[in-house]
Amino acid sequence: MTSDAPNLKKIVAEKAVDDYVKDGMTVGLGTGSTAEYAIKRVGELVGNGYELKCVATSKRTEDLAQSLGVRIYDVDEVEHIDVTIDGADEVDPQKQLIKGLGGALLREKIVAAASLSEVIIVDSSKIVDKLGVKTPLPVEVIRYGHGKTAYALERQGCKATLRLSGGQPFVTDAGNYIYDCKFESIENPFFLESRIDVVPGVVENGLFLNTTDVVLISHPDGRVTKKD
Ligand code: A5P
Repeated sequence: MTSDAPNLKKIVAEKAVDDYVKDGMTVGLGTGSTAEYAIKRVGELVGNGYELKCVATSKRTEDLAQSLGVRIYDVDEVEHIDVTIDGADEVDPQKQLIKGLGGALLREKIVAAASLSEVIIVDSSKIVDKLGVKTPLPVEVIRYGHGKTAYALERQGCKATLRLSGGQPFVTDAGNYIYDCKFESIENPFFLESRIDVVPGVVENGLFLNTTDVVLISHPDGRVTKKD
């Protein structure tokens, strides 16, 4: 990226906060490098006197928000969440998503389900015709018998790779492992989700189906478009 190229993550994140977060709201804070710019903008609003109740989708997000003076509530401490702003790894034409390359899919899905409005922020590189063509589908599994769980996942037609961090298995905020499941493409995400969810040991999968209200997309020329 040249120094005068627009920062596509920052542009789309700040627009989402400016357009959707109002004083007094309860706000879900996503996880990932794009969501971090939204969290920083929320920090600025709080610094300017906004009264916001915020819920974090990961420990990493919680730490960043608190370092900016944003008070974080547990998801069970709030009645509902007005709006959640989160990133995604792939977005298809129906606003179905793959999420979880940042490892936070479990909390992200719980928070999305508790949100009145879910706003997804991406740059145009995340837009695909079909889910699974670029990225693997992350699946969070319990540690016990995870090799057996991976074998059952592969029977759905993917290559399942245990996610590592520093040479050791990556451990999620909930203490689980993640298998990154690479399909050639995902023809029917609803059917696939129903197959994955019945595999013993699976905690959650990274398909976010019918959870998104609005997608904001930043483009290389700096424009931001909206899909709702
Ligand atoms: C976190 O678990 C993911 O779902 C992120 O939302 C996703 O990986 C997007 O991250 P980036 O904004 O860093 O691409």
